[in-house]
Amino acid sequence: MQLKQVHRKRNDGLMFFQGFLRRPRQIASVVPSSRFLERRVTELATVVRAGSVVELGPGTGGTTRALLAAMSPHASLLSIEIDPDFIATLRAIDDDRLTVHHGNAERLAEILRHHAWDAADAIVSGIPFSLLRPDARRRVVEAVWSALAPGGRFVAYQVCARIDTFARPLFGPAQVAVEFRNFPPLRIYVWRKDGGARTLPS
Ligand SMILES: C[S@@+](CC[C@H](N)C(=O)[O-])C[C@H]1O[C@@H](n2cnc3c(N)ncnc32)[C@H](O)[C@@H]1O
Repeated sequence: MQLKQVHRKRNDGLMFFQGFLRRPRQIASVVPSSRFLERRVTELATVVRAGSVVELGPGTGGTTRALLAAMSPHASLLSIEIDPDFIATLRAIDDDRLTVHHGNAERLAEILRHHAWDAADAIVSGIPFSLLRPDARRRVVEAVWSALAPGGRFVAYQVCARIDTFARPLFGPAQVAVEFRNFPPLRIYVWRKDGGARTLPS
């Protein structure tokens, strides 16, 4: 790894930890994802074939960089982060394919409209679903379903299995992988959106 990259990783790690101290329930982890998790998530989302990718909860941008590294030169990435302290770092990523939006993933539909996006081929989420209120979880999952193009993939990496309970009625059963080379080890849930319109039971 180059010296510049080592410095960036160290700074990102410190900023991430400070973010966790300020808002533990929102950040939900003391360190950013490992490069193993980043790579696994990127592969499972098949972003290499996607024209449009949305990222929910990019944090300090490690996952964002991994997505960009795998994406086609003609693809676009919209990364939506709620924490104001991470926005400048995310916006410093020098890549024309990236748009950083400071906002709440619950408002995904509105955010897509704001950026004139119709749909996404892949949506990757690091937001801690188990710590969201049930109504917020429901809003995010429904918004993800609506925003995905038919055949699109939704990939969520989590400690807890609660996302599965919420997403299953819309997406059906997930394919689940576990990445142990991460602190803490995380489950990665992968869904593919089929054609039919569905709604969550109330
Ligand atoms: C576990 S961290 C993942 C960060 C990064 N993707 C990684 O893997 O290192 C979760 C991130 O989701 C963000 N987040 C939490 N709730 C959110 C929401 N409702 N909308 C957008 N971002 C959110 C947090 O601020 C935090 O940056």
